[in-house]
Amino acid sequence: MPAVSSAATPADEPATDEPATDEPTVLIGALPPMWLRDNCPCPECRDPHSGQKLFQITDLPRELAVASATPREDDGAAVTEVVWSPDGHRSRYPAQWLLAHRPGGTAEPDPRSEAGKQLWRAADLAGALPQADWATYLAVPAERARILQAVQRLGFALLRAVPTEEGQVLAVAETFGFVRETNYGRLFDVRVEPNPDNLAFSAARITPHTDNPYRDPVPTVQLLHCLSNAAEGGDSGLVDGFQAAALLREEDPEAFAVLTRTPVPFVYRDARTELTALRPLIGTDPLGRIREVRFNNRSIGTLRLPAAELDAFYTAYRTFAELLLRPGLQLDFRLAPGDCLVFDNTRLLHARTAFEQSGARHLQGCYADLDGLAGTLAVLRRGAALDELHGLDELAELLAGPGAAEYLGEPVTIAQHMLQAGALAEAAGAPAHLVAAALLHDIGHFQGPVSGRELMSGTDNRHSHTGADLLARWFGPEVTEPVRLHVAAKRYLCAVEPGYRARLSEASEYTLQVQGGPMDETEAAAFAALPGAADAVAVRRWDEQAKDAEATAPDFEHFRPLLTALLRR
Ligand code: OGA
Ligand code: ZN
Ligand code: ZN
Repeated sequence: MPAVSSAATPADEPATDEPATDEPTVLIGALPPMWLRDNCPCPECRDPHSGQKLFQITDLPRELAVASATPREDDGAAVTEVVWSPDGHRSRYPAQWLLAHRPGGTAEPDPRSEAGKQLWRAADLAGALPQADWATYLAVPAERARILQAVQRLGFALLRAVPTEEGQVLAVAETFGFVRETNYGRLFDVRVEPNPDNLAFSAARITPHTDNPYRDPVPTVQLLHCLSNAAEGGDSGLVDGFQAAALLREEDPEAFAVLTRTPVPFVYRDARTELTALRPLIGTDPLGRIREVRFNNRSIGTLRLPAAELDAFYTAYRTFAELLLRPGLQLDFRLAPGDCLVFDNTRLLHARTAFEQSGARHLQGCYADLDGLAGTLAVLRRGAALDELHGLDELAELLAGPGAAEYLGEPVTIAQHMLQAGALAEAAGAPAHLVAAALLHDIGHFQGPVSGRELMSGTDNRHSHTGADLLARWFGPEVTEPVRLHVAAKRYLCAVEPGYRARLSEASEYTLQVQGGPMDETEAAAFAALPGAADAVAVRRWDEQAKDAEATAPDFEHFRPLLTALLRR
């Protein structure tokens, strides 16, 4: 059990703190009192049925302090009982909860911003489209979770063999959320119409765009279900708008800044409808991270700004538009009857090539929202909580089995190396997610199609990616992304830090070459701009040190409470 100790001296109670152990420790006295009290789980503070808070922040004493903190047990589970000064209120915090929620070095990534996404270019998805068969998707909760997670992390997924019946697209939306009805109806038909109000309903080429930018709030999910596609042309394309925006930020920071701060009027008009929204092309969150892309050449209205700002906007708009069309970004594919594309309309841009006017091409579309999708995914994961506990057993077995048997040219086994890395992170006082990332960073050597041994004979096994993908079954991006980037972090550090490369072990120098060598200047700048770069660099430094034949490290079980607290629910 994790030990909990108090830095506050119990005034009127005997000193009950357990002696220090080597378990992770949460110091109650170091926690902000208002934060801790606001999270009191007692039935006076929270409605036991709904879990909603029963008090106002203004009800709490201004000079709130922990009078005492005592380790106790509730039904066999370790808790810390806090007595509050000056009001004498008592709170009991499960040790598990304290460990999972202790204030860490980095804030929880907003899953809607770039910090919660895996950005991609077409080649990253080659041969690995996120897709599932409709029947399996319906029947197997884990498959539904995988697809919804793909929409969340990659921005889209493709369902195959959805019955080619009219209205079926609504049934797809209803598996994860609520249909958003608009002036186009609950669903809309995408096929050639005489005198179309929207060019989507013609045979013309449609360049990469997001839908309904003239709506605020914009529909955040779009579905397109293919009923027939027998026309010449009419191929589909998807572009990761967050990737494009991140490239713009790196290559032309001024253009990026202009597009995040210039409100653009988007307009739609037909006989019955008049819609306008005034929003920037690139929306950022309070931390300045990319959170929304709105891009649609068809519906940008007339901007009203001082002339100099208009010039700056048009220069930046053009640069971004050129970037969106840059070869390599767009994923090209063709929808076949029965395919249903589900995508994030705040991030991905979709496109189609022109098609033969007389050809039979018919899609049906509808809109829904990401909050509902995220909620459905979270509920699916609740059911998977038990699997997750088995997941820790799976990781323990990988370490105890192949991990304890294999070496990668170092004097320690891969398992010893990983355990040492975890121990170094813990000793450095790293937040729990980084201890976990350091501990698990090389798990991919036992996972992907190419083994660690093959890496040592010259084939890159992409173990940071296969490892991160495996870990994503149980952990959030705060754990998986430093793992994914730990090889890139080596290539980065070798490029930017004098003397770093010379300190690499012989095996690590060898794999550096297999993995592409030190980054060039552009790559290094792009890496440094990633939201997870600092975490990945921290993991990398422990990785380099964790090769000591003399060092002893705790075993996997030592880390189990910390890992359990990080499992996503
Ligand atoms: C749309 C659209 C793409 C297509 O209807 O919003 O962009 O493949 N359609 O026809
Ligand atoms: Zn569209
Ligand atoms: Zn390593």
